[in-house]
Order: sequence, then structure tokens, then C-alpha cells
Amino acid sequence: MIRIKDRVFFLDSMDTTYGFMIDEQGHLEHLYYGAKLDETIDYNTLRFQSDFEYGSATSYSKETRGVMLNEKPLEVSSYGKGDYREPTIHLELPDGSRTVDLTYVRHSIAKSLSFQGLPQADKDETLVITLEDKTTNIELELFYTVLEASNMIVRNMRLYNRNDSPIILDKILSMNLDMPNNSYLLSKLDGAWIRERHIHDTPLLYGTVRFDSKKGVSSSNHNPFFVLKEPHTTDEFGRAYGAALIYSGNYETSVEINPHDMLRINMGINSFDFRYKVEAGRSFITPEVLLTYSNKGLNQLTQQFHQCINDHIVSKEFRYKERPIVINNWEATYFDFNEKKLLAIAKQAKRLGIELLCLDDGWFGNRDDDTSSLGDWTYNPKKIKHGLQSLASKINKIGLDFGLWVEPEMVSENSEMYRAHPSWVIRTPHHEPSQGRHQWMLDLTNPDVVEHLKSTLTTLFQSANITYVKWDMNRNISDVYSPHYKADEQGRFHHDYICGLYHVLDHLKTTFPTILFESCSSGGNRFDLGMLYYMPQTWTSDNTDAYERTTIQEGTSLLYPLSTISNHVSGNRSHQTFRHVPLESRFNVACFGILGYELDVTALTPFERRLITRQIEYYKEHRTLFQFGRFSRLHSLQDQNHTVWMVDNEDDAQVLYFQQLFRPNDRIDVIRVTGLESGKYRITNREQAMNIRHFGSLVNRALPIHLRVNSWLHNAIANRYLFPIETVDCTVDSIQLEEQGFILPHPFTGTDHGEHDMILEDFGSRLYRFEKIND
Ligand code: DGJ
Repeated sequence: MIRIKDRVFFLDSMDTTYGFMIDEQGHLEHLYYGAKLDETIDYNTLRFQSDFEYGSATSYSKETRGVMLNEKPLEVSSYGKGDYREPTIHLELPDGSRTVDLTYVRHSIAKSLSFQGLPQADKDETLVITLEDKTTNIELELFYTVLEASNMIVRNMRLYNRNDSPIILDKILSMNLDMPNNSYLLSKLDGAWIRERHIHDTPLLYGTVRFDSKKGVSSSNHNPFFVLKEPHTTDEFGRAYGAALIYSGNYETSVEINPHDMLRINMGINSFDFRYKVEAGRSFITPEVLLTYSNKGLNQLTQQFHQCINDHIVSKEFRYKERPIVINNWEATYFDFNEKKLLAIAKQAKRLGIELLCLDDGWFGNRDDDTSSLGDWTYNPKKIKHGLQSLASKINKIGLDFGLWVEPEMVSENSEMYRAHPSWVIRTPHHEPSQGRHQWMLDLTNPDVVEHLKSTLTTLFQSANITYVKWDMNRNISDVYSPHYKADEQGRFHHDYICGLYHVLDHLKTTFPTILFESCSSGGNRFDLGMLYYMPQTWTSDNTDAYERTTIQEGTSLLYPLSTISNHVSGNRSHQTFRHVPLESRFNVACFGILGYELDVTALTPFERRLITRQIEYYKEHRTLFQFGRFSRLHSLQDQNHTVWMVDNEDDAQVLYFQQLFRPNDRIDVIRVTGLESGKYRITNREQAMNIRHFGSLVNRALPIHLRVNSWLHNAIANRYLFPIETVDCTVDSIQLEEQGFILPHPFTGTDHGEHDMILEDFGSRLYRFEKIND
């Protein structure tokens, strides 16, 4: 709800209030962001008053001595009138001056506002505040939307050049938030290829912490997202603010603490390598930021983001729509496949219960490795004899849907496309363009390239019964320049590249509303809310080692809902880490999100086939929960050695207990479970099995018969026999779960074990179901 009284604006969501006012000079002064305030609050008590000009300070004007913009919490900041913190806007006027002073003119409420060409949240009512600098003819609109149920504020802005000549934007971010500092820690998601989105906490000191992307994509180095939390905040308790940018290109975030302990947060398009000429009478619109607050810990913050993304960002067509279980041939075959192999994979996948085959890289041009053919989006008859339509219909006859991999933003040097359009490659007039994975990038600031992609991909997706597309992007941008722009326009390249991409994606989303697009960028190099607006899910990481995935998926879960996190069970050993993780654990981790398989299913042992069949049956039974349930990181057991997650819908929950290394003669673990509806719960564990091969010579203590280790008989039994794990079946009370917790079975303690002991090897795990019993 938006409450406006006199000069004061309060934005109320279900549990939060965001407040600001027009101050005596017309600037927008921030008042408050936190737990919900009632209407009787005296807004004056929220203000930081100062009317004394201290030594070396700059007062706003000679009439307002002591009013110092540098000391005011502001909703937007510009350069030149005494605010020396990081500005939201920095621009050059036609006369070369850079001072801008934006003050209130009017406000209005807009209905169902949408910004053409940018990804954004679905909105109902938006508060629009118009500011102006009358002397320099600059107008600025600030947009505020409240998404009440998810406790979210959406912010962005639009700048108009009302001059007769162009102005140059050097910096225009999406939001500025000033608040008093409270010893906050900055939590962010950092990483690299196959090590994406690890959570790191940094204390904030006086001065500025800045993180960004200059790679042309949001990148896996730092996600365009952060949390500010009080030092003792955990997943279950404490105060935290979160902000996430709905954008896929270069971005920046800065958090600054000034000497008077005022905190300033800025977020938006990266001002590095950005110089945007705005012609007379034209405007520039910035991407949206989602902003949220929780005083009930990080799980609450996470759940607010998840609800908002599921309700307002993901396209209506796929909102809460169950996603298929995919088999992807990449780690099974890499480039070495033909129709026979694909059909064999499809048949076996169908028997296991899988629902869709995604044909990955290598089906087009002459692509037998990664040195050629990107750009030539026609099938390779040596691999797919009768074409995509015929292959798709054979796959459909087997009983699977058909999906296809593409990497449309790229071109190989060795390709028909490059030979026909060498000028479409991003390059400067002076240098040989750098390569990444032997490939170059297409200049999506050029409308001809955009139109080519739209028509080529439309024809391709219409050419067969394709219901799923994996859109890859395997390098970052270099050699930034476009012949399409004049010399003084080159600074718009990065933003226009992303707008070009969004234009193509918008066209495809509208033309093929039922195709499920999965975004991918060497795994998670472009996992952001901008891409999720066009593509409802993202390939989380090329690292499918389940142990590594506990860290990657846990970091990802801070912002992104399970419905967007695509996970595959892959083979033994991990192609990324060479590690062996039990097949049951590979599933137990991958099922928290969108499940798929990526291994050669034609080469499975009977043991593996039976396990996978049972896994898929289990996932299908609980799919809605795993994809759309409420996700929590259970804090009580979080240590270096364990990962404990829960997904629930209040009266039905699945809890993952994942152990890193086995610790001999250790404690009995207890999992405290909070947030369930009160009442009694039946706890059972998913029926899992162990392979007796992993018992080594202990097999003879586990089985009633004697086996010679590694004998033919041992191996034959190991390939078929499902050694059952302990059974848990008990009834507990929700209070007991919250206060003391669920006590796990006694762990295996060396050599011997009791009937009910839990034998958990390194990287072992369990999946427990907590089901409410109705009285
Ligand atoms: C990178 C992706 O992340 C992989 O899953 C796979 O699709 C390869 N590209 C194919 O080149």
C-alpha cells in the first residue's frame, strides 16, 4: 500500500515499511526502511536533523546555511551541490558542466506500468515521483512499486533530457538507499567457472566497497545481488536487507560508509565503460532493482525473494508450472554422437522415467569439436541423418519430449556465417579480436544481426517439435566497439548489446510461449533476474559434483527459487572434480530444484538403473514441493561438515542431510526444524540403497554369505543387489522439532554396526520426509 500524506510517502508491504519525504528544499529525504510502522508515527522523529555548518562542510545554498546534502539520507543523489558520496547520477550537460540539482515537482500513481525492452517485475500500482533541475532542463522520474505479499520494493528511474542539445550520461544507476550504519556485514555471491555463487561475508569499514562486472554479462565472479546483515544474523534470526538487479550485463554495486556512519547503497548499470549520449528530448531508463528486508533471518529474506521471483519475474506461462525431468547428452557423449546413440539414450531414459531429451552441442554445421560452426544453425547430416524433425518425432515416439541446445550470440571463425558476414563480429578497427573457446561474439548492437537471429531461430524452432531450448553463452565480451556507432556513441555498446539480446529473447518468448527456455553461460556465468524474465530456469553450474553443488546451490538459493535452479545427476566419477559421490547423494542434492540426468544411461549397471528409477519415481511424487516449495537452510547443524536443507509447504517437508566427510565415533546429529505448521509429523526416510562394492572386505560382516572381494560373484552381486539403508519411521511433535530437533540414527562407528545404525560414507546423505498427521 502506498500512503501519501502532505510531503511524506510511506510504502507498506505485508511486514515492512519504506518511507521518505520531500524536504524543505525539495530533495527526497529517506526516512525509514524496516519492520512495518503504523500510521500514527510522527515522521519528524525519523529524520536526522542538522542545521550547523561544521568546518570544511558545504551548505546547500547561502539561504540554507547548515543544510548539507552530504549529511542527508537521500533517495537519489547527483554531483555538484555538496554531496561527496558516490552519486546515483553523473552527467555532462551541453555546456560541459556536471552539476545537477534535482528537486520535487509532482507525483502520481501509475497502473500496470511496464518498460519496453527491459526485463522487469509484473506490477500493479507504481508511485512515480518527478524531480527536475529547472536550470539545466533535466527531469528524473523515480519509480517505486510495492509487492506486498513478498515484502518487496521495486525501484528504478528514467531521466529526460529537456535541452535542445544532447547530454552525456556518465553514470545512471537504478537506486540509491541511504540509511544509518549498523555494523553491517556485506554478504555476496562470488565465484568463477565451476565454482559459482559461494557465499562470502565482508565487514564494512569507512569508505566504499564496490563490486561489479565488466565482462558484458552479469558473470559468475559476483552475482548482481547482495545482502546487508547485522553481525549476529543467521538463517533463522536477525535483521537483513537484500537487493538484486534485474539485468544481465555490466553492473556495479557500491556500499559506502561516510565518517558520520551514514551508509549509502548504489546499484545499477556499470558506470565503467559507459558513456551514453541522450539526444534532445529523449530519455534513458534504468533496470529495476528488487529490495527487501527481513527481521527474521536470512531464510525469511530468501523466501521473500523466491516468492517475488515466482510470482512477478518468471513468465506467466511457466509460473508454478511443473518442469520436465531432462536427459542431456553432453557429459554422456560430448561431440561424439549420432542418431543411433541418441535414440539408444532416449529409449533407456524413457525406461528410467525421464521425460525429455535435450540434444546438446555438436548437432549443427560440421561441429565435431569446439573450433567450428557456431552461427550455422542447420543440422549435420553425418550425425542426424534425416534432420531434426525426423529425430524429434522418433524421440517423441519413444515417449520423450525433444529439446535443443543453441549458442546464438556466438560465431566461429570457421563457419559459413562468418564467411558471409565478417563485419558482424565484435571487434575494434585496430586489433585482431581476442577469442574465447575459439569463438567470437556477434555484435548485437547491430539491428541486422538482431533481425538475423530472430528469423534464423524462429525458423529453427519451427522446424521440429521442440519444447525446450538450452541457450548457451560460453565467453565474455572483448574488443568492445561497433562500426554501427559514431565515435562519440561507443560508450553505449555494453548496454545496447544487452538490449539487443533482450529484443531477440522477447521476440522468441512471444513467438514460442510454450517452449521452456533454459539459460546457460558455461554453467552459471549469467545467472541473473534479467535472464530469468525471459527464461524460467538456468543451468546452475557445469560442476555437477554433488558435494560441490551443496555450496553452489546453497549460495544460489539465497536469492533464486528452486524453480529456477537446474541440476543434473551426472556420472561416476565427476568430470569436473574426479570425485566419487554416491549416486543416492547425487540425486538427493539435485532434487532440490529442477532435476535432470547427464550421464550415459546406456552404460548403467542394473544397480544404477534400479536406483535411478526409484529416484525419479520419488521426485515425480514430490515434484511440486521440490520445484515450488518454501526453501530453508536449516541452521542448527550447519558446520563445515554438513549441509541441511528443507523444502516445505507448511505441512509436508523434505529435509536433506548431507555429510561431507565421515568422522569416526562422532556425535549423534540433531536437526532442528523450524517453520512447520504446529502438530504431529510422521518422519520417514527415502528408501535408499548402498552398493556392497563400497564395503570392501567389510562386506562379509554386512552380508550373511561369504564373498571373496573382487571375485566375479562379488561384482555380479554388487551390480544387482540393493543393500538397504536403515529405516526411519517415527512420529514427533512440531514443538519438539523446533526446540530440541529431530534426532538422527546412531552413526556407524567402525567395523561393526547395529541394525538401526546409519552407515554414511564420505559425501553420504539422507532425505527425510516430514508429513503432517491430521487428527
Ligand atoms: C557449456 C554448458 O554449460 C554445458 O552444459 C554444455 O552445454 C557445453 N557448453 C556445450 O558446449
